[in-house]
Amino acid sequence: MASSNSRIISLGMLLFIFVGFFLVVSAANFNQEFDITWGDGRGNILNNGELLTLSLDKFSGSGFQSKNEYLFGKIDMQLKLVPGNSAGTVTAYYLRSQGEAWDEIDFEFLGNLSGQPYTMHTNVYQHGKGDKEQQFHLWFDPTKDFHTYSVLWNPKRIIFSVDETPIREFKNLESIGVPFLKSNPLRIHSSLWNADQWATRGGLIKTDWTQAPFTASYRNFKADACVWSSGKPSCTKTSPPKGNWFLQELDLAAQQKLKLVQKNNMIYNYCTDTKRFPQGLPRECTVSNTY
Ligand SMILES: *[C@@H]1O[C@H](CO)[C@@H](O)[C@H](O)[C@H]1NC(C)=O
Repeated sequence: MASSNSRIISLGMLLFIFVGFFLVVSAANFNQEFDITWGDGRGNILNNGELLTLSLDKFSGSGFQSKNEYLFGKIDMQLKLVPGNSAGTVTAYYLRSQGEAWDEIDFEFLGNLSGQPYTMHTNVYQHGKGDKEQQFHLWFDPTKDFHTYSVLWNPKRIIFSVDETPIREFKNLESIGVPFLKSNPLRIHSSLWNADQWATRGGLIKTDWTQAPFTASYRNFKADACVWSSGKPSCTKTSPPKGNWFLQELDLAAQQKLKLVQKNNMIYNYCTDTKRFPQGLPRECTVSNTY
């Protein structure tokens, strides 16, 4: 009796330890993974590395970047954006390589007056050339709670998701001459800054500094990714990454979700902006079934 009881107890303890361990490894620590890069005290890592906040006032914004660079990965971050009157502020969250001919995968959140929707802006750059904007109004208030913004980047596609709902797919279309991001490692960056020249209704609405400081928060960073180290990716053909993200594509259900978001929430799509591209739409826009 006594021995089976103690077995049950030790099983319970083991389970507890495993669950505890899982929680620790599933959300990485900001102290270990990121550096605050600018803002003179306006960016802070709190709660033993569980929370990061950026703030903006009249004098400066702030920003952080990942210690690691990655070549492919599934990268999740939870953000809670500047609440209230955030007009004029921009929270940028992006992956970017170094140098003049950089590659970049972008989320940018343009603030708005209280009660008016944020604009979520996305873009993809290859060798310093972007011009692939898609913008959305979110289906929730991004300032009330944390929501998960994800980039899945593998050799075949880049999928942007919000709370696991795909909102954009940028496929590898090198076969028809569209450059893809596949050789430069990207570092994660985020910054909160003032862009009232252009951000809200094209710059008509200015930042209300009586509301400062403006604060955005981050938590639950998770990267299933190939870390770049000493000039080499950590994943190779002979040691492929764990998890299925490396080969992942959108199944039929996910494609339908994506279509629905694009129908209901998209407010700008470069692929339909014929005025902007009088010589013809970019090549990737002319292939059916690509977004
Ligand atoms: C702000 O709200 C207006 C009115 O709803 C909307 O048209 C605009 O897209 C919103 N976002 C920005 C960044 O201006």
